[in-house]
Amino acid sequence: MTNPTTTPVPIPGPRNIEWVGNARTGHLRLLDQTLLPNEVTYLECKDVQSVWDAIKRLSVRGAPAIGVAAAFGCVIGAQWDTFEESADHLATSRPTAVNLFWAIDRMKRVQPRTYDALLSEAKTIHAEDATMCQQIGEHALSFIQQLKPQASSVKPLSFLTHCNAGALATGGIGTATSPMYLAHQKGQPVRVFADETRPLLQGARLTAFELAASGIDVTLICDGMAGQVLREGKVDVVITGADRIAANGDAANKIGTYPLAVMAKHHGIPFLVAAPSSTFDMSTATGDAIPIEQRASEEITEGFGLRTAPPNVITYSPAFDVTPAELITAIITERGAIQPVNTERVQSVINHTSPKRTQ
Ligand code: MRU
Repeated sequence: MTNPTTTPVPIPGPRNIEWVGNARTGHLRLLDQTLLPNEVTYLECKDVQSVWDAIKRLSVRGAPAIGVAAAFGCVIGAQWDTFEESADHLATSRPTAVNLFWAIDRMKRVQPRTYDALLSEAKTIHAEDATMCQQIGEHALSFIQQLKPQASSVKPLSFLTHCNAGALATGGIGTATSPMYLAHQKGQPVRVFADETRPLLQGARLTAFELAASGIDVTLICDGMAGQVLREGKVDVVITGADRIAANGDAANKIGTYPLAVMAKHHGIPFLVAAPSSTFDMSTATGDAIPIEQRASEEITEGFGLRTAPPNVITYSPAFDVTPAELITAIITERGAIQPVNTERVQSVINHTSPKRTQ
Protein backbone atom coordinates (compact mmCIF):
# COMPACT_ATOMS: atom_id res chain seq x y z
CA MET A 1 0.00 0.00 0.00
CA THR A 2 1.18 3.50 -0.76
CA ASN A 3 1.33 6.18 1.90
CA PRO A 4 -1.76 8.36 2.20
CA THR A 5 -1.38 11.80 0.70
CA THR A 6 -4.71 13.57 1.12
CA THR A 7 -4.99 16.80 3.09
CA PRO A 8 -6.01 15.96 6.67
CA VAL A 9 -9.73 16.26 7.30
CA PRO A 10 -10.38 18.62 10.25
CA ILE A 11 -11.81 16.80 13.27
CA PRO A 12 -15.55 17.45 13.22
CA GLY A 13 -17.64 18.57 16.19
CA PRO A 14 -16.62 19.23 19.79
CA ARG A 15 -13.25 17.84 20.97
CA ASN A 16 -13.80 14.66 22.98
CA ILE A 17 -10.46 14.61 24.85
CA GLU A 18 -8.16 17.46 25.80
CA TRP A 19 -5.34 17.99 28.30
CA VAL A 20 -5.54 21.36 30.00
CA GLY A 21 -2.44 22.95 31.52
CA ASN A 22 1.00 21.58 32.28
CA ALA A 23 2.17 18.10 33.27
CA ARG A 24 2.50 18.81 37.01
CA THR A 25 -0.81 20.56 37.71
CA GLY A 26 -2.89 20.13 34.55
CA HIS A 27 -5.97 17.97 34.13
CA LEU A 28 -8.04 16.01 31.62
CA ARG A 29 -11.10 17.57 29.99
CA LEU A 30 -13.57 15.04 28.58
CA LEU A 31 -16.70 15.71 26.59
CA ASP A 32 -19.53 13.94 28.45
CA GLN A 33 -20.85 11.78 25.61
CA THR A 34 -23.70 10.45 27.75
CA LEU A 35 -25.40 13.85 27.34
CA LEU A 36 -25.10 14.10 23.55
CA PRO A 37 -26.79 15.17 21.37
CA ASN A 38 -28.74 17.39 23.75
CA GLU A 39 -25.92 18.96 25.74
CA VAL A 40 -22.28 19.73 25.08
CA THR A 41 -20.89 19.47 28.60
CA TYR A 42 -17.33 18.80 29.74
CA LEU A 43 -16.02 16.83 32.70
CA GLU A 44 -12.91 18.26 34.32
CA CYS A 45 -11.03 15.18 35.60
CA LYS A 46 -8.46 16.02 38.27
CA ASP A 47 -8.15 12.62 39.93
CA VAL A 48 -7.86 9.07 38.64
CA GLN A 49 -11.23 7.92 39.94
CA SER A 50 -13.02 10.54 37.86
CA VAL A 51 -11.24 9.24 34.74
CA TRP A 52 -12.15 5.65 35.69
CA ASP A 53 -15.78 6.67 36.23
CA ALA A 54 -15.89 8.54 32.90
CA ILE A 55 -14.68 5.44 31.06
CA LYS A 56 -17.00 3.09 32.96
CA ARG A 57 -20.14 5.18 32.43
CA LEU A 58 -19.26 5.82 28.74
CA SER A 59 -18.70 9.56 29.05
CA VAL A 60 -15.62 8.73 27.02
CA ARG A 61 -16.03 5.60 24.91
CA GLY A 62 -14.89 3.94 21.73
CA ALA A 63 -11.78 1.76 21.86
CA PRO A 64 -9.10 4.29 20.76
CA ALA A 65 -10.60 7.12 22.86
CA ILE A 66 -10.66 4.90 25.95
CA GLY A 67 -6.94 4.22 25.45
CA VAL A 68 -6.13 7.92 25.03
CA ALA A 69 -8.17 8.91 28.11
CA ALA A 70 -6.48 6.22 30.21
CA ALA A 71 -3.05 7.42 29.07
CA PHE A 72 -3.87 10.92 30.36
CA GLY A 73 -5.33 9.29 33.47
CA CYS A 74 -1.89 7.77 34.12
CA VAL A 75 -0.40 11.29 34.11
CA ILE A 76 -2.92 12.26 36.79
CA GLY A 77 -1.90 9.13 38.72
CA ALA A 78 1.71 10.35 38.67
CA GLN A 79 0.58 13.78 39.94
CA TRP A 80 -0.93 12.00 42.96
CA ASP A 81 2.23 9.85 43.42
CA THR A 82 0.24 6.72 42.63
CA PHE A 83 1.29 5.97 39.06
CA GLU A 84 1.42 2.13 39.23
CA GLU A 85 -1.78 1.68 41.27
CA SER A 86 -3.58 4.23 39.10
CA ALA A 87 -2.52 2.54 35.88
CA ASP A 88 -3.66 -0.85 37.21
CA HIS A 89 -6.93 0.64 38.43
CA LEU A 90 -7.68 2.31 35.09
CA ALA A 91 -7.15 -1.07 33.42
CA THR A 92 -10.16 -2.43 35.34
CA SER A 93 -12.59 0.15 33.93
CA ARG A 94 -13.71 -1.81 30.86
CA PRO A 95 -12.61 -5.29 29.75
CA THR A 96 -13.08 -5.60 25.99
CA ALA A 97 -11.33 -2.73 24.18
CA VAL A 98 -7.69 -3.79 24.05
CA ASN A 99 -6.56 -0.23 23.28
CA LEU A 100 -7.03 0.46 27.00
CA PHE A 101 -4.35 -2.09 27.99
CA TRP A 102 -2.16 -1.16 25.03
CA ALA A 103 -2.10 2.52 26.04
CA ILE A 104 -1.52 1.79 29.74
CA ASP A 105 1.31 -0.58 28.80
CA ARG A 106 2.92 2.21 26.77
CA MET A 107 2.62 4.61 29.68
CA LYS A 108 4.23 2.08 32.04
CA ARG A 109 7.22 1.80 29.73
CA VAL A 110 8.02 5.55 29.85
CA GLN A 111 11.50 6.12 31.34
CA PRO A 112 12.48 8.21 33.19
CA ARG A 113 8.96 8.53 34.60
CA THR A 114 8.86 12.33 34.88
CA TYR A 115 5.65 14.33 34.66
CA ASP A 116 6.76 15.87 31.37
CA ALA A 117 7.77 12.54 29.83
CA LEU A 118 4.46 10.93 30.82
CA LEU A 119 2.40 13.80 29.44
CA SER A 120 4.45 13.79 26.27
CA GLU A 121 3.78 10.06 25.78
CA ALA A 122 0.03 10.51 26.37
CA LYS A 123 -0.05 13.36 23.85
CA THR A 124 1.88 11.19 21.39
CA ILE A 125 -0.64 8.35 21.77
CA HIS A 126 -3.41 10.90 21.12
CA ALA A 127 -1.72 12.42 18.07
CA GLU A 128 -0.75 9.05 16.62
CA ASP A 129 -4.36 7.94 16.83
CA ALA A 130 -5.43 10.98 14.81
CA THR A 131 -2.87 10.12 12.13
CA MET A 132 -3.96 6.48 12.07
CA CYS A 133 -7.59 7.50 11.57
CA GLN A 134 -6.67 9.56 8.52
CA GLN A 135 -4.55 6.71 7.11
CA ILE A 136 -7.34 4.18 7.71
CA GLY A 137 -9.69 6.45 5.78
CA GLU A 138 -7.29 6.67 2.84
CA HIS A 139 -6.85 2.92 2.65
CA ALA A 140 -10.55 2.25 3.20
CA LEU A 141 -11.64 4.68 0.52
CA SER A 142 -9.30 3.30 -2.12
CA PHE A 143 -10.33 -0.27 -1.15
CA ILE A 144 -14.02 0.61 -1.48
CA GLN A 145 -13.47 2.42 -4.76
CA GLN A 146 -11.87 -0.73 -6.19
CA LEU A 147 -14.81 -2.81 -4.97
CA LYS A 148 -17.39 -0.29 -6.19
CA PRO A 149 -15.96 1.48 -9.25
CA GLN A 150 -19.47 2.49 -10.32
CA ALA A 151 -19.77 4.81 -7.28
CA SER A 152 -19.00 8.17 -8.85
CA SER A 153 -19.40 11.88 -8.47
CA VAL A 154 -23.10 11.48 -9.26
CA LYS A 155 -24.02 8.23 -7.53
CA PRO A 156 -23.60 8.46 -3.75
CA LEU A 157 -21.39 5.90 -2.09
CA SER A 158 -23.72 4.29 0.40
CA PHE A 159 -22.47 3.03 3.77
CA LEU A 160 -24.18 1.29 6.67
CA THR A 161 -22.48 1.54 10.05
CA HIS A 162 -23.18 0.47 13.62
CA CYS A 163 -22.53 2.15 16.97
CA ASN A 164 -20.08 5.05 16.83
CA ALA A 165 -16.64 4.43 15.39
CA GLY A 166 -16.38 8.11 14.59
CA ALA A 167 -14.48 11.18 15.71
CA LEU A 168 -16.10 10.91 19.14
CA ALA A 169 -14.64 7.41 19.56
CA THR A 170 -11.05 8.28 18.60
CA GLY A 171 -8.37 10.95 18.64
CA GLY A 172 -9.08 11.82 15.01
CA ILE A 173 -11.80 11.47 12.37
CA GLY A 174 -12.84 8.01 13.44
CA THR A 175 -12.16 4.61 11.93
CA ALA A 176 -15.37 3.47 10.21
CA THR A 177 -16.35 7.10 9.58
CA SER A 178 -12.96 8.10 8.20
CA PRO A 179 -13.65 7.06 4.56
CA MET A 180 -16.99 8.88 4.83
CA TYR A 181 -15.34 12.15 5.88
CA LEU A 182 -12.61 11.74 3.26
CA ALA A 183 -15.02 11.02 0.41
CA HIS A 184 -17.14 13.97 1.53
CA GLN A 185 -14.08 16.24 1.58
CA LYS A 186 -13.17 15.10 -1.95
CA GLY A 187 -16.63 16.11 -3.14
CA GLN A 188 -17.91 12.58 -3.64
CA PRO A 189 -21.55 12.23 -2.58
CA VAL A 190 -21.89 9.96 0.45
CA ARG A 191 -24.94 8.47 2.10
CA VAL A 192 -24.76 6.78 5.49
CA PHE A 193 -27.32 4.55 7.18
CA ALA A 194 -26.61 4.67 10.93
CA ASP A 195 -27.98 1.89 13.12
CA GLU A 196 -29.35 3.47 16.28
CA THR A 197 -27.49 0.77 18.32
CA ARG A 198 -29.48 -0.58 21.23
CA PRO A 199 -29.38 -0.24 24.16
CA LEU A 200 -27.37 2.99 24.61
CA LEU A 201 -28.00 4.50 21.16
CA GLN A 202 -24.44 5.47 20.23
CA GLY A 203 -25.49 5.35 16.57
CA ALA A 204 -28.41 7.74 17.06
CA ARG A 205 -26.91 10.03 19.68
CA LEU A 206 -23.32 10.15 18.41
CA THR A 207 -22.88 8.93 14.81
CA ALA A 208 -25.94 10.70 13.45
CA PHE A 209 -24.92 13.79 15.45
CA GLU A 210 -21.34 14.03 14.19
CA LEU A 211 -22.09 13.09 10.56
CA ALA A 212 -25.00 15.52 10.31
CA ALA A 213 -22.86 18.26 11.87
CA SER A 214 -20.34 17.70 9.06
CA GLY A 215 -22.98 17.95 6.35
CA ILE A 216 -22.96 14.23 5.52
CA ASP A 217 -26.27 12.75 4.40
CA VAL A 218 -27.13 10.42 7.30
CA THR A 219 -30.25 8.30 7.68
CA LEU A 220 -31.01 6.87 11.11
CA ILE A 221 -32.52 3.37 11.30
CA CYS A 222 -33.44 1.08 14.20
CA ASP A 223 -31.09 -1.92 14.44
CA GLY A 224 -33.81 -4.33 13.34
CA MET A 225 -34.34 -2.40 10.09
CA ALA A 226 -30.86 -3.10 8.73
CA GLY A 227 -31.85 -6.38 7.06
CA GLN A 228 -34.59 -4.72 5.05
CA VAL A 229 -32.32 -1.84 4.06
CA LEU A 230 -29.68 -4.31 2.82
CA ARG A 231 -32.32 -6.36 1.01
CA GLU A 232 -33.59 -3.25 -0.77
CA GLY A 233 -30.09 -2.78 -2.26
CA LYS A 234 -29.59 0.59 -0.59
CA VAL A 235 -26.09 -0.15 0.77
CA ASP A 236 -22.74 -0.49 -1.08
CA VAL A 237 -20.65 -1.40 1.94
CA VAL A 238 -21.14 -2.16 5.63
CA ILE A 239 -18.30 -0.77 7.73
CA THR A 240 -17.80 -0.88 11.51
CA GLY A 241 -15.04 -0.34 14.03
CA ALA A 242 -13.68 -2.91 16.47
CA ASP A 243 -12.81 -3.08 20.15
CA ARG A 244 -10.44 -6.03 19.94
CA ILE A 245 -9.27 -8.13 17.02
CA ALA A 246 -7.83 -11.58 17.72
CA ALA A 247 -4.75 -12.97 15.96
CA ASN A 248 -6.93 -14.85 13.47
CA GLY A 249 -8.95 -11.74 12.56
CA ASP A 250 -12.09 -12.47 14.61
CA ALA A 251 -13.32 -9.01 15.64
CA ALA A 252 -15.23 -7.92 18.75
CA ASN A 253 -17.37 -4.81 18.32
CA LYS A 254 -20.58 -3.32 19.71
CA ILE A 255 -23.38 -5.82 20.21
CA GLY A 256 -25.32 -6.11 16.95
CA THR A 257 -22.29 -6.09 14.65
CA TYR A 258 -22.16 -9.87 14.14
CA PRO A 259 -25.72 -10.15 12.77
CA LEU A 260 -24.91 -7.30 10.36
CA ALA A 261 -21.96 -9.32 9.02
CA VAL A 262 -24.18 -12.40 8.58
CA MET A 263 -26.77 -10.35 6.69
CA ALA A 264 -24.14 -8.61 4.56
CA LYS A 265 -22.76 -12.02 3.55
CA HIS A 266 -26.26 -13.24 2.68
CA HIS A 267 -26.80 -10.23 0.42
CA GLY A 268 -23.31 -10.28 -1.14
CA ILE A 269 -22.43 -6.87 0.34
CA PRO A 270 -18.82 -6.24 1.48
CA PHE A 271 -18.41 -6.14 5.27
CA LEU A 272 -15.37 -4.10 6.36
CA VAL A 273 -13.85 -3.60 9.80
CA ALA A 274 -11.80 -0.41 10.20
CA ALA A 275 -9.32 -0.40 13.09
CA PRO A 276 -5.83 0.79 14.01
CA SER A 277 -3.03 -1.67 14.87
CA SER A 278 -3.58 -0.78 18.56
CA THR A 279 -6.89 -2.71 18.41
CA PHE A 280 -5.21 -6.03 17.56
CA ASP A 281 -4.52 -8.47 20.37
CA MET A 282 -1.99 -10.90 18.99
CA SER A 283 -1.91 -12.80 22.31
CA THR A 284 -5.53 -13.88 21.83
CA ALA A 285 -5.70 -16.62 19.22
CA THR A 286 -9.38 -16.42 18.34
CA GLY A 287 -12.47 -14.38 19.19
CA ASP A 288 -13.65 -17.07 21.61
CA ALA A 289 -11.07 -15.84 24.14
CA ILE A 290 -12.01 -12.14 23.93
CA PRO A 291 -13.58 -11.01 27.24
CA ILE A 292 -17.06 -9.66 26.61
CA GLU A 293 -18.21 -6.86 28.91
CA GLN A 294 -21.57 -7.39 30.60
CA ARG A 295 -23.52 -4.22 31.31
CA ALA A 296 -26.15 -3.40 33.93
CA SER A 297 -29.68 -4.60 33.18
CA GLU A 298 -31.01 -1.04 33.71
CA GLU A 299 -29.37 -0.07 30.42
CA ILE A 300 -31.96 -2.34 28.75
CA THR A 301 -34.93 -1.78 31.01
CA GLU A 302 -34.67 1.96 31.70
CA GLY A 303 -31.78 3.21 29.58
CA PHE A 304 -32.83 6.84 29.40
CA GLY A 305 -34.93 7.18 32.52
CA LEU A 306 -38.14 5.65 31.17
CA ARG A 307 -38.95 2.14 32.38
CA THR A 308 -39.70 0.00 29.31
CA ALA A 309 -39.86 -3.50 30.83
CA PRO A 310 -41.73 -5.10 33.73
CA PRO A 311 -40.15 -4.95 37.17
CA ASN A 312 -37.73 -7.79 37.97
CA VAL A 313 -37.56 -8.96 34.37
CA ILE A 314 -34.45 -11.06 33.74
CA THR A 315 -32.03 -9.50 31.27
CA TYR A 316 -28.81 -10.51 29.56
CA SER A 317 -26.63 -7.64 28.38
CA PRO A 318 -23.38 -8.44 26.56
CA ALA A 319 -21.99 -5.11 25.31
CA PHE A 320 -20.04 -6.68 22.42
CA ASP A 321 -20.24 -9.58 20.02
CA VAL A 322 -17.59 -11.33 17.95
CA THR A 323 -17.71 -11.42 14.16
CA PRO A 324 -15.81 -14.45 12.83
CA ALA A 325 -12.99 -13.67 10.40
CA GLU A 326 -14.67 -15.57 7.57
CA LEU A 327 -17.52 -13.05 7.52
CA ILE A 328 -15.17 -10.06 7.19
CA THR A 329 -14.30 -9.02 3.63
CA ALA A 330 -11.27 -7.05 4.83
CA ILE A 331 -9.90 -5.32 7.92
CA ILE A 332 -8.64 -1.86 7.04
CA THR A 333 -5.76 -0.65 9.22
CA GLU A 334 -3.45 2.36 9.02
CA ARG A 335 -0.93 -0.01 7.41
CA GLY A 336 -3.30 -1.12 4.66
CA ALA A 337 -5.97 -3.76 4.08
CA ILE A 338 -5.87 -7.26 5.54
CA GLN A 339 -7.51 -9.50 2.96
CA PRO A 340 -8.30 -12.33 3.15
CA VAL A 341 -8.78 -12.14 6.88
CA ASN A 342 -6.78 -14.99 8.43
CA THR A 343 -3.93 -15.55 10.90
CA GLU A 344 -1.20 -15.35 8.25
CA ARG A 345 -2.39 -12.08 6.75
CA VAL A 346 -3.02 -10.52 10.18
CA GLN A 347 0.48 -11.53 11.27
CA SER A 348 2.09 -10.09 8.15
CA VAL A 349 0.46 -6.65 8.60
CA ILE A 350 0.38 -6.44 12.42
CA ASN A 351 3.60 -7.49 14.03
CA HIS A 352 3.58 -5.68 17.36
CA THR A 353 3.69 -7.57 20.64
CA SER A 354 0.40 -7.21 22.45
CA PRO A 355 0.16 -5.83 25.99
CA LYS A 356 -0.30 -8.11 28.94
CA ARG A 357 -4.00 -8.53 29.50
CA THR A 358 -5.31 -7.80 32.96
CA GLN A 359 -8.76 -9.25 32.19
O1 MRU B 1 -19.49 0.72 24.27
P1 MRU B 1 -18.79 1.64 23.33
O2 MRU B 1 -19.60 2.85 22.96
O3 MRU B 1 -17.40 2.01 23.83
O4 MRU B 1 -18.58 0.78 22.01
C1 MRU B 1 -17.84 1.35 20.96
C2 MRU B 1 -17.74 0.48 19.78
O5 MRU B 1 -18.18 -0.64 19.77
C3 MRU B 1 -16.97 1.01 18.63
O6 MRU B 1 -17.46 0.50 17.43
C4 MRU B 1 -15.50 0.58 18.77
O7 MRU B 1 -14.99 0.92 20.01
C5 MRU B 1 -14.66 1.16 17.71
S1 MRU B 1 -14.35 2.89 17.96
C6 MRU B 1 -13.36 3.42 16.70
